[in-house]
Amino acid sequence: MFTETNVPLQPYNTFGIVAKAHTLVRVRSVADVQAVAANAGLAAHPAFVLGGGSNLVLTGDVKPLVLKVEVMGIRLVEDTAKAWVVEAGAGENWHDVVAWTLAHGYPGLENLALIPGTTGASPVQNIGAYGVELQDRFESLDAVDLATGQTFTLNAAQCAFGYRDSVFKHAPKRPGDFGLAGKALITHVRLRLPKPWKPVLGYADLEKKIAETGTTQPSAQQIFDWVCAIRRAKLPDPQVVGNAGSFFKNPTVTPEQCADIIAREPRVVHYPMVDGNIKLAAGWLIDACGWKGKSVGQASVYEKQALVLVNRGGATGGEVMTLAGAIQTSVYERFGIRLEPEPVVI
Ligand code: EPU
Repeated sequence: MFTETNVPLQPYNTFGIVAKAHTLVRVRSVADVQAVAANAGLAAHPAFVLGGGSNLVLTGDVKPLVLKVEVMGIRLVEDTAKAWVVEAGAGENWHDVVAWTLAHGYPGLENLALIPGTTGASPVQNIGAYGVELQDRFESLDAVDLATGQTFTLNAAQCAFGYRDSVFKHAPKRPGDFGLAGKALITHVRLRLPKPWKPVLGYADLEKKIAETGTTQPSAQQIFDWVCAIRRAKLPDPQVVGNAGSFFKNPTVTPEQCADIIAREPRVVHYPMVDGNIKLAAGWLIDACGWKGKSVGQASVYEKQALVLVNRGGATGGEVMTLAGAIQTSVYERFGIRLEPEPVVI
């Protein structure tokens, strides 16, 4: 185990915000995590687990011990009549894992192509896109308890997945409270890809591709290519323009609240949910408030997707959060809806 100090974090967060880690340890194996837990000097500090930094806003230098997850490896661990199960190290780039599964003939992750970040972070916020969420393809994960060094395995129910949510996003305040944020480090994720493969095509952008191309029975590779093209057309590439994907969650309202908004704003984009409530497109709400292209310092609202905040070069975490706060206020004043940020703010 090798401890580094004053490590620049700009290359390790997709927003490209300048900040430093006071102390950083690169974790390449379960044994590395256990060595941190066993080291009295390190274990005494609160820890911050850093994956691909794609869902993160840094508002200053990071004082907690940064554990940068670099556990690698992808392999098929099960091949039955019902499914393929693929295991990936938490440090593997998520999109590389999606591409690997398709290249090896194990379809099922194609709708989740090109989502930035690492595989270990994928269950933390239950990533989702184009009608598929991680929880739909999740088998189990291995993690290490940062206090004791004990390894444990969680299934989907134990991860308590919700919309962009899991047990790993909740910080327990008292012993026994729900939540594993800051308490555990995910080392491996297993993905279950059901047989026979069935395409998921219900999402409007994919239906548009079917209509445009006339391909009514696309292969998994075709869907992968479509998803990549759709994302490249409307979401900024973090290698070029710093960003953390959608900055806010899509809010949920009751049918009564929705009817009230529709009465005032008939064009509001909304989707009924199975529980009877209605999900609103946060991007539409922000766009309707006129935020596209607006800035605070070097932090801006992306011109092609109002749900994405971008770093025009040299933005600080403070500028990003001031912009986010102003957006929240204006959406609340106009629609009475409180938008909840998606990224972790540290
Ligand atoms: N819209 C606007 N103006 C905007 C942005 C969106 O009118 O500036 C409208 C669109 O026209 C569309 C609707 O809002 O009718 C929804 O937009 P979009 O299809 O782009 O999806 P989204 O709800 O904004 C969600 C996820 C994305 C995911 C896409 C595709 C959340 C918070 N975001 O975005 O996830 O890629 O659906 O499934 O759930 C992420 O979480 O980082 C992310 C990118």
